[in-house]
Amino acid sequence: MLVLGIETSCDECSIAIVEDGRRILGQVIATQTEQHAPYSGVVPEIASRTHTEWISGVYQRARTDAGVSGGDLDAVAVTNRPGLSGSLVVGLSFAKGLALGLDLSLVGVDHVRAHLYAPQLEREVEYPFLGVLVSGGHTIIARVHDPLSIDILGTTIDDACGEAFDKVAKHYQLGYPGGVVIDRLAREGDARAFRFPDASLHKGEHRYDVSYSGLKTAVINQLDQFWDQRYEKSLSNIAASFQKSAIDLLLKRVSRAVEDTGLKRVVAGGGVAANTYLREMLGSLPGVDAVYPSLALCTDNGAMVAGLGFHLLRSGQRADLDLDASARVPGFRRTYP
Ligand code: KG4
Ligand code: ZN
Repeated sequence: MLVLGIETSCDECSIAIVEDGRRILGQVIATQTEQHAPYSGVVPEIASRTHTEWISGVYQRARTDAGVSGGDLDAVAVTNRPGLSGSLVVGLSFAKGLALGLDLSLVGVDHVRAHLYAPQLEREVEYPFLGVLVSGGHTIIARVHDPLSIDILGTTIDDACGEAFDKVAKHYQLGYPGGVVIDRLAREGDARAFRFPDASLHKGEHRYDVSYSGLKTAVINQLDQFWDQRYEKSLSNIAASFQKSAIDLLLKRVSRAVEDTGLKRVVAGGGVAANTYLREMLGSLPGVDAVYPSLALCTDNGAMVAGLGFHLLRSGQRADLDLDASARVPGFRRTYP
């Protein structure tokens, strides 16, 4: 089955064509980094307008890349939740146009679950596993039973992990996207320069949850309180210390989940899964078999949407042309829809 996947939930405009949920025949990921860089963050209005301008060209290029014509396609899968409303609507409308014009099945895909499917496009990862999704919008630790069924074990109670990277970078005017710049800067820094406090969450209630607002405040507003004056108060030292605190916090929760569930296979996804320190540390947790998608499939992409869409379609799910977009997914349910 040839499924076309459309992803426009944030600032990547991506379309891919995937065969049987596994083989990427063609993919285009057009990133809007340049459009949002002057604002040090994604501007929703600019994101949706840029998607509108780009999506048709991205579709043509993805098809050329895959060497298929519209008539070869069987279905169109589109991210319809969660994300920026205006951006989601652009992808959704384009998907409906294709479904109508080419007489294709249509299916709506949850972005979070799609991220946790991404590594399957590069190698077969056996289920069940522990999924760790860390991006600009999400921080989720989940037990993943199969492509369509997950249990959320933990999440953030305030900021997402990537959001904390972005806010710290914005405050210190380090550049954009924040996570990428901090990762680079941290390589030259010494993480011992600042000892930021650990988030104190009630262990019974929040066994696998994380919190980043305290760390963010410490790094932005209370830097001197946590400074070890034997080290220089440099931007690279701030970046290294912040990065270590942010990732170590996440890894503590992941270790706890590995211990409790007995799941040794840990699959990371989302933009922050591109982080050098995270990749190094997750791989060295005792007994853990860490799996990461390649960098291109860590960030938002159409292939993961087409891949998960295939499984939804195979399980009999189809959407009508009144399929709507949701900015948020209220609660997390174990199975679709
Ligand atoms: O998955 P993604 O492309 O979009 C969302 O769904 O949010 O993730 C983007 C996030 C941004 O917060 C960005 O700063 C962060 O991923 N990010 C990183 C790195 N590369 C991207 N964070 C830490 N280290 C990186 N190398
Ligand atoms: Zn994402």
